[in-house]
Amino acid sequence: MMQNQILKKGKLYLLSSITASILLSGCFGGEEKKEVSAEAVVKPVEQPKVEQPAGTAVAESVVKEAVEKVEVAKEEVKDVVATVEKEVQQTPITTPTIDGAKLYAKCSSCHGANGEKVALNVSKIIKDLSKENFISAVKGYQSGTYGGSMKTLMTGQVKSLTEDEIKAIANYIIK
Ligand code: HEC
Repeated sequence: MMQNQILKKGKLYLLSSITASILLSGCFGGEEKKEVSAEAVVKPVEQPKVEQPAGTAVAESVVKEAVEKVEVAKEEVKDVVATVEKEVQQTPITTPTIDGAKLYAKCSSCHGANGEKVALNVSKIIKDLSKENFISAVKGYQSGTYGGSMKTLMTGQVKSLTEDEIKAIANYIIK
């Protein structure tokens, strides 16, 4: 009975020591910290008057088991840190490049695969425009300040494009 209680107390102390040692050592716990925690664990078990050496043997195995558990926990923490570090390294910090070819795809039905056609027999051949004129024409369609008889049609085509996207299309079509 008595011995059981002592062991129970020892175990409780052990648990808190393990927790403390995990918290203290973190993932870089060295040999020193391991020893300190082992001593702290042994003391409360040894202090009470345990007559049979059997008690000490049990206590030792409990300590050994606990130390092993701490080692496993340390390895787990190391793994988590390694995973997080890897993920941080792999996260791209640059914005993805805008694909002018992809954006131009919906324009090609009227303007031709390379901007070489007179769209609906009305437009200029857009590959022959300067990049500046191309950009200002598209911006003009967006704001309603540019265009001929079919300008509303073009406004619908380009209204959702951002400035960077317009530039990407210009770079793709105009060499
Ligand atoms: C349904 C056919 C059609 C589609 C699709 C279309 N366009 Fe047009 N585009 C036209 C027509 C017609 C005009 C001439 C409109 C006008 O009267 O100003 C024009 C004019 C233009 C002009 C000015 C050329 C000029 O005549 O001054 C540019 C630049 C242009 N389009 C770019 C684009 C781009 C970029 C896309 C795709 C995002 C696109 N267009 C999609 C038919 C089309």
